[in-house]
Amino acid sequence: MIRKFQFGKPFETEAVTADIAVSEGMPSCGEICLEEGFCYRFTMDENDIVYGLGEANRGINKRGYCYISAAADDPEHTEDKRSLYAAHNFIVISGRKNFGLFVDYPTRLTFDIGYTRSDLLEITCEAADLYLYVIEGESAYDIVRQFRGIIGRSYIPPKFAFGYGQSRWGYRTKEDFREVAAGYRKNQIPLDMIYMDIDYMEGYKDFTLNEENFQDFPEFVKEMKEQNIRLVPIIDAGVKIEEGYSICEEGEQGGYFCKKEDGSDFVAAVWPGYTHFPDVLNPEARRWFGDKYRFLTEQGIEGFWNDMNEPSIFYTPEGIDGVRELIRSYMEDKDGGASIFEIREAMMRLANSQKDYESFYHQVNGQKIRHDRVHNLFGYNMTRAAGEAFERIDPDRRFLMFSRSSYIGMHRYGGIWTGDNKSWWSHLLLNLKMMPSLNMCGFLYTGADLGGFGADTTRDLLLRWLALGVFTPLMRNHTAIGTRQQECYQFEKTEDFRHVVGVRYRLIPYLYSEYMKAALSDDMYFKPLAFEYPQDPQALQVEDQLMLGNEIMIAPVYTQNAKGRYVYLPEEMLFVKFMPDGSVSGEKLSAGHHYVEIALNEVPLFVRKGKCIPVAKAAQSVEELDVRNLEILGYDGAEYELYEDDGIHKDYANPRNKRMIKK
Ligand code: NOJ
Repeated sequence: MIRKFQFGKPFETEAVTADIAVSEGMPSCGEICLEEGFCYRFTMDENDIVYGLGEANRGINKRGYCYISAAADDPEHTEDKRSLYAAHNFIVISGRKNFGLFVDYPTRLTFDIGYTRSDLLEITCEAADLYLYVIEGESAYDIVRQFRGIIGRSYIPPKFAFGYGQSRWGYRTKEDFREVAAGYRKNQIPLDMIYMDIDYMEGYKDFTLNEENFQDFPEFVKEMKEQNIRLVPIIDAGVKIEEGYSICEEGEQGGYFCKKEDGSDFVAAVWPGYTHFPDVLNPEARRWFGDKYRFLTEQGIEGFWNDMNEPSIFYTPEGIDGVRELIRSYMEDKDGGASIFEIREAMMRLANSQKDYESFYHQVNGQKIRHDRVHNLFGYNMTRAAGEAFERIDPDRRFLMFSRSSYIGMHRYGGIWTGDNKSWWSHLLLNLKMMPSLNMCGFLYTGADLGGFGADTTRDLLLRWLALGVFTPLMRNHTAIGTRQQECYQFEKTEDFRHVVGVRYRLIPYLYSEYMKAALSDDMYFKPLAFEYPQDPQALQVEDQLMLGNEIMIAPVYTQNAKGRYVYLPEEMLFVKFMPDGSVSGEKLSAGHHYVEIALNEVPLFVRKGKCIPVAKAAQSVEELDVRNLEILGYDGAEYELYEDDGIHKDYANPRNKRMIKK
């Protein structure tokens, strides 16, 4: 049962697509206090578990910390951080009572989940203008399913997007891309996508190509596609201010940019220097910006990633003036002026400053809305701009699209990647923990930068991380400029990488089928064990294994130098290992705890009792997969319903997409 409560005058985020009437009165679980802004309180039972929050730090069970929904470009995802790039305000309280809460509120919101007082859940925000959805159900899983049912169908990418992708900030020329393609193809490590980071553009200007490096781009896109490799360019939120740059001039003339109080276009520095932000909350501007993606789709591009859309601000002219003033006072008044520490502090505060977010406006349905009041909706609407444009460009075709910043609602237009992680073992584990929480909030096409974005990776970390990435819908190796080379072929014994990435391709028939089933029935692709085994007290505690689809459980190794790991089985399962020689080992393990050995070049999974999965032969690209000749792995007599379509169009309901296979 879902009830919707209204407080004050909420901003219509359009996160929820179902038409739900507003209920009278107050929710029956928890208390609401409206004395200072909005506050929701609930006293948790000792054993209550709190799920949700999508892209957030820490565990699957969110209890014991404080999380703030405030989309932030912060590349240091240390454990103490309370905000990442997204705002996914959905939680489920599971235990003595089971209920879910979605707080549809577009800016800073705090979830104190037993941080200040261990038994207290407190949700607070400054303005009591919001919708609160309260969902009651028989279990956490049931509540998630109900929630997913009201927010609209999750984004579905084309099938090639289930292949493996290579990325690096720093590829500049055709030669750089050719080298990556050749490195993979020569070493026979499968590859479907190479990502183009900001250096493909002319001066970091959106919807341009560096003319010297990318002459005859359509021909180059074709050249790559002939090798079954798609180029996937990045699009940034800020539009460079430059005379003669058509996007900037059109945006200025059309009034499509965010404005300052005085009506002039807001200015903020990002990669290109000073930029304007397209007012993607304004439907007209959103349409205008979205149509710009045509510049690349018309040249053969089929996918994009949207970046810097919190929106990230390095500094503004006003911010710089403030620092300049401090320096002046330091220089001119040695005794009473600013100290060098104040100057340093002020420099540090230049990026993503609240003051800047308070200084510009959106135009939404004739109303002027200050940005900080809707801050968390920018990435969502930038991606929506693209998603809506793709519908106009080719309504029958699927495009690859994922974003850095997001809000619930964006899951209908694209996936997300989890931003600037580090080459740390702890971030491999964080990647795993985030996946089911993201699914709860509708984000199915997700993944992290495999191998780690910041810092230098190591061969063993990359291999272990890939062995998790084998299962994440978005499987991309991406790293920052200045870090060690991170393409799989840069490491010794490339055959290990060929094997591990190859396992991804062997599993694509199953992974794609499970993804599609989850998307088409508003279900989860990754689940915590507790969602499948709610009566098992030990399953409730597991934070480092996941259920994937209806047939398998995954338990990757995430510790350096480990030769294996402990794993908990809520029921008997078939422990499967994809061995480096191409064979597959299978051993029935009884319910309970086990230590399982998993070498660096092996990929493990567990088939649930009585189930089976289809497995293909490894291939160099999704295009080359032989989906007609599948091996069946699992329990004798088991059956599996395979979903399969052309991977390009949207003919999802065609009954021919389904067939039964039997072990
Ligand atoms: C920040 C993004 O998170 C990262 O993935 C990208 O490489 C850099 N911006 C440069 O575009």
